[in-house]
Amino acid sequence: MKILVTGGTGYIGSHTAVELQEAGFEVIIADNLSNSEAGVIDRIAEITGTRPAFEVVDLTDVDATGKLFLKYPGIIAVIHFAALKSVSESVERPLAYYQNNIVSLLNLIREMECQHIPHLVFSSSCTVYGQPEKLPVTEDAPFRTPWSPYGNTKQVSEQIIRDVCRVSSFNSILLRYFNPAGAHHTALIGELPLGVPNNLVPYITQTAAGKRDYLRIFGNDYNTPDGTAIRDYIHVVDLAKAHVAALTRLVERKNTQQAEAFNLGTGKGYSVMEVVQSFERVSGVRLNYRYVPRRPGDVEQVWADPSLANRELAWKAEQDLDEMLRSAWNWEKRLMER
Ligand code: NAD
Ligand code: WQD
Repeated sequence: MKILVTGGTGYIGSHTAVELQEAGFEVIIADNLSNSEAGVIDRIAEITGTRPAFEVVDLTDVDATGKLFLKYPGIIAVIHFAALKSVSESVERPLAYYQNNIVSLLNLIREMECQHIPHLVFSSSCTVYGQPEKLPVTEDAPFRTPWSPYGNTKQVSEQIIRDVCRVSSFNSILLRYFNPAGAHHTALIGELPLGVPNNLVPYITQTAAGKRDYLRIFGNDYNTPDGTAIRDYIHVVDLAKAHVAALTRLVERKNTQQAEAFNLGTGKGYSVMEVVQSFERVSGVRLNYRYVPRRPGDVEQVWADPSLANRELAWKAEQDLDEMLRSAWNWEKRLMER
């Protein structure tokens, strides 16, 4: 079964390509390499023994997107990772984010309709919930007014997909990721932050590697046990496996609605301080950090109720926080060697 993976040379896409190939799917990757490198294809091949087909395509280019589908007839489903993903950059460059994330989705759905490809798995985000009133957050929690254009692209994209599902035979699973972290156990693929990372875990590993002077911990005056903010970190390989489960649900027509949303998290929240302590424990490296004021737009605490995904996708996150930090550190060390 041929699956198109957009954004497949990126962080989550590459791990998913590995899991898909290991589950027996034939993978075609399309990526414009705006935030990844083509060498990832070699490393996917090294891990799995199979080289996925790869096309450099910008999905905002409608003609190029059309040609992609013509070149690979018989695609049965698409997993759409391709997007710009920096919250802070989206505040500075809102048009670039709307143009890239929305136009690429529209082009993709239009081509899927032309080619009668009915199944789409979409990368959404816990950012759609903002600071939820009830924790753990369930899928029926209301969306909050998005703080960033990036967050808005996820809300709007979900709405576009729901609207299309309502009037066609299109089926979609919207996966709302909490905080992905870690890398493949082989350390052959992982997150490749270009420039200064925004996210906590790459900032920690880059600080330990000497690329950054110290970690700024944004806020120690939150209403949490140690005063630092709480998130639900999920191992990227667990996340990747959930995509295989979602895809299988769609192709086996086990979905109960045309557009279904699932939270992908572990169901456990950890504070920034607990993440730092986990890193120090597994790496044996003492981390240089300082408390600084809260980061604008950050919520105090959020973690998932993943029980719907656990039940309906027959999937559960298995790897713990230490494993996320251990694999992230191994990946950082591999990057240093390169
Ligand atoms: P990533 O940047 O590593 O991967 C995204 C890939 O998409 C990159 O390889 C990039 O080159 C490609 N891309 C971007 N625009 C494109 C376009 N117009 N045409 C073709 N390719 C394009 O990001 P990631 O962390 O792997 O995220 C994957 C998806 O998951 C994104 O949609 C992101 O918004 C979403 N998400 C990520 C996180 C996270 O913390 N990493 C959390 C929630 C949701
Ligand atoms: C985690 C915690 C920070 C960096 C973002 C997006 C979200 C989703 C995941 C895409 C927070 C603290 C961080 C640092 C710190 N992405 N922190 N020092 O903000 O929960 O979520 O990525 O969809 O949409 O908003 O993740 O990793 O940036 O932060 O203290 O240098 O670590 O304040 O409490 P976040 P993060």
